Amino acid sequence: MDSSRISLRPFKLTDVDDMMLWAGDDRVTQTIRWNTLTSKEEALTFIKDVCIPHPWRRSICIDDRSIGFVSVFPGSGDDRNRADVGYAVAFEYWGQGIGTEAVKMTIPQVYSEFPEVIRLQALVDVENKASQRVLEKVGFIKEGKLRKYGYHKGKLVDLFMYSLLSTESIY
Ligand SMILES: CC(C)(COP(=O)(O)OP(=O)(O)OC[C@H]1O[C@@H](n2cnc3c(N)ncnc32)[C@H](O)[C@@H]1OP(=O)(O)O)[C@@H](O)C(=O)NCCC(=O)NCCS
Repeated sequence: MDSSRISLRPFKLTDVDDMMLWAGDDRVTQTIRWNTLTSKEEALTFIKDVCIPHPWRRSICIDDRSIGFVSVFPGSGDDRNRADVGYAVAFEYWGQGIGTEAVKMTIPQVYSEFPEVIRLQALVDVENKASQRVLEKVGFIKEGKLRKYGYHKGKLVDLFMYSLLSTESIY
């Protein structure tokens, strides 16, 4: 994938049909917290009430069409130093470097827009090798395994904690 075709931008209501193609796909949502969207109406409400007001959620676009998302949620109060990262890419685009490119593009934007955030972190299911690889390619450090850390879609899971400090990022 030519990286000049990849961009990040805020969601728009007009993304609804493109978004249904990936956010309505269980293969994409099974490893994230989102429930699979089941109708265009649900997707529209989700864009309007959740994606647009989100502190930092961007649509990953190819030629300006939505094929995924990256979210960064900054902490507050004593947690204001850190922010959690999440992302997904439409199934048909997996394995083309898009997830990696999107996270790379996210890092400088977030460190610039949220000056107090100095640590980006991601919690990844130990079985989600593709996501671990994305983080490792971008320079995140695997800090350790959080055993039986929480429920994911009804199942108790072990998670790896990854982080990248602002001083470590080369992007
Ligand atoms: C995780 C996800 C975003 C990756 O997107 P992507 O665009 O396919 O990622 P990239 O192509 O940039 O890189 C994927 C890497 O994982 C590797 N990979 C994929 N499946 C793998 C597996 N089962 N075992 C080991 N490595 C694997 C690929 O080979 C590639 O590494 P490489 O470049 O060294 O060959 C995508 O799989 C996805 O949307 N998954 C569902 C949502 C999700 O899990 N999000 C993350 C939650 S923490």
